[in-house]
Amino acid sequence: MNPNIRIVRDASLRERNTFGVAARAPWLVSVDNAADLPEALQAAPLRDGLALALGGGSNLLFAGDPGGAVLELSGRDVRVLEQDGDRAILRADAGVQWHGLVMQSLALGYAGLENLALIPGTAGACPIQNIGAYGVEVRDFIHAVEAFEPASGQWHRFDNAACAFAYRDSRFKQAPDRYLITAVEFALSRTPSLKLDYAGIGEELAAMGVDAPSAQNVAEAVIAIRSRKLPDPAVLGNAGSFFKNPIVPATQAEALLADHPAMPVFRGADADTRKLSAAWLIDACGWKGHRDGGAGVSAAHALVLVNHGGATGLQLLDLARRIADSVRARFGVAIEPEPRIVGARW
Ligand code: FAD
Ligand code: EPU
Repeated sequence: MNPNIRIVRDASLRERNTFGVAARAPWLVSVDNAADLPEALQAAPLRDGLALALGGGSNLLFAGDPGGAVLELSGRDVRVLEQDGDRAILRADAGVQWHGLVMQSLALGYAGLENLALIPGTAGACPIQNIGAYGVEVRDFIHAVEAFEPASGQWHRFDNAACAFAYRDSRFKQAPDRYLITAVEFALSRTPSLKLDYAGIGEELAAMGVDAPSAQNVAEAVIAIRSRKLPDPAVLGNAGSFFKNPIVPATQAEALLADHPAMPVFRGADADTRKLSAAWLIDACGWKGHRDGGAGVSAAHALVLVNHGGATGLQLLDLARRIADSVRARFGVAIEPEPRIVGARW
């Protein structure tokens, strides 16, 4: 057997999801070199199909076991593919840790990813939900996504437009496991074009005593804000925001605002829509800090479900459903989970 393909039988996934809930995979297959994927997919555990492509497990809820083979791409190569004056194309294998890649790109002198510092997970997962934070989405910097399609045995290279990126969405999120993302190429720049307008960044830079910020300074500010606002999964299990911010018709947002003048309303993707704050809606329903045994809502941020210890994925899912029901009953707004729910339906 190829030494770059490792297969573990009856693998625990508890350490492989940031909620820290118990789950088991009948097979866990790790592939170091993406070129070996066709061979790995012919191996006995994967011949009947793949139950789950797993990265860092930071946007998943195991409400049950995956029920089939789990595959992880563990390649960690980072390379500059092209450098043309100001612009560089940086390519990262799927298994590269996202935050490390952000810091490495900045150390190489390439700006762009600084607002996305400290997001957990892998480079291979960043296109799945078009990760975003502090006024930037990764779609702004993705040049191409390299992927293998198990069903057809074909390799693909999707350019940015072909990825169908939207808020917390892409063609990959719409068809889970259809494409195994093997590497991502980023178009970065030596001349920073800093995005400082998101609430809190300017204040943080001022508190740091920085008045002409570099891209590194922005990353440091984002790291400081995130460390205060979001629980560290190494200390308290969580998957970041559990719900997406709901997009509603502008008319509905205006009607809600008339009744709730303090409600934050953000612009949507077009003039007819608005984005509401799921955190505010959940907070207003009284859930912040709520706890049912091991499953709870963070006391620091109403959008973050937490595992205080011993919660099952199903208990967390049950809590999430009750939260969504109460938001619908009080505000008439449907909120939907951001993480992938494995082993149960929303
Ligand atoms: P996983 O959780 O392992 O997988 C997520 C999805 O991607 C699954 O559907 C999985 O099947 C699929 N997938 C993973 N790798 C591949 C691959 N190579 N090929 C095909 N499919 C694949 N997200 C944000 O957007 N912004 C934030 O600010 C943010 N903050 C967070 C803060 C905390 C504390 C936590 C715990 C999470 C946060 N997240 C945030 C969510 C999460 O970190 C991101 O969605 C991240 O990109 C998930 O990466 P992962 O490798 O852990 O993916
Ligand atoms: N708010 C409350 N109660 C709270 C927390 C926040 O009412 O407990 C309100 C505040 O009014 C605040 C507003 O919610 O102004 C927005 O809060 P925040 O700036 O923290 O942003 P968010 O909408 O809760 C989003 C992303 C995060 C991302 C941050 C920063 C989604 C679903 N979440 O959170 O992404 O880090 O903005 O850009 O879009 C993730 O996706 O996992 C994630 C953490």
